Amino acid sequence: MEYNELLEKAKLASEKAYAPYSKFKVGACVLTENDKIYTGCNFENSSFGLTICAERNAIGSAIADGEQKIKAVAIYSPNTKHCYPCGACRQVMCEFVSHHGLDIITEAENGLDIKNFNEIFPEGFRL
Ligand code: THU
Repeated sequence: MEYNELLEKAKLASEKAYAPYSKFKVGACVLTENDKIYTGCNFENSSFGLTICAERNAIGSAIADGEQKIKAVAIYSPNTKHCYPCGACRQVMCEFVSHHGLDIITEAENGLDIKNFNEIFPEGFRL
């Protein structure tokens, strides 16, 4: 799966976001070690703190399907370029990084921005 296809799928997922409060829509697309893909969008709640981010939504679908090793996550928001994952989502990703590492893909000014997960979340917490 090409990374620009992953970002396209994240873009499609962002259209399904439920973000009436922030108006900030996000879509994510996860690629697992077995080359399976899962998408997710953010969904907010009247009780704001219950909001679920797009990345965790997509990761939850991967886990529910038995996929526990993630090698890439593309994140897209129509509201901004370089839509990097929040701290909570980084900690969740940290749990499921594949043995080959994890690439974080966002939209850049001209094309893709690809970062190694370790670059954006060094020394994550693990039990
Ligand atoms: N959001 C995500 O979906 N992913 C992130 O990594 C950052 C924030 C959502 C949560 C909320 O619905 C909206 O963006 C504004 O914070």
